[in-house]
Amino acid sequence: MTDYLEWLDEYSVGIPELDAEHRRLMELTNRVLHAVEAHDHPRGIAAVEEVIAVMVKHFDREEAWMRTSGFPGYEAHRAAHNEHVRRLMGFSLELKREAIDLVDVVEFLMTWLYDHIQHLDVEFAAHLKSPPTE
Ligand SMILES: [Fe+2]
Ligand SMILES: [Fe+2]
Repeated sequence: MTDYLEWLDEYSVGIPELDAEHRRLMELTNRVLHAVEAHDHPRGIAAVEEVIAVMVKHFDREEAWMRTSGFPGYEAHRAAHNEHVRRLMGFSLELKREAIDLVDVVEFLMTWLYDHIQHLDVEFAAHLKSPPTE
């Protein structure tokens, strides 16, 4: 069984607002795992839907900051967000039809979140922290 996500300082991208939202997303993802362990499918579906809702708001914030800061990786980063939301919406429908296991969805959520923060978000945060060149 997958382990619960635990926030570590090394996950920090150095922007407190983003760190707080990433932490919150980890907590919400842990709720999905909790539902898996409790064999509570309806609660698991509700938890996945909450992850999606909070994630969409988080992506909106990141993308707004990318536009205002002139982040050159905006299009690629936004595409990664959109693709992820599209996949999660698909999983959410499949969960309702019981065509996919909740445990597979939670593993996907955890792997994606960790990987996205460590790679794409770190890159974007570095841009936000860098002094303007002009
Ligand atoms: Fe993020
Ligand atoms: Fe992101």
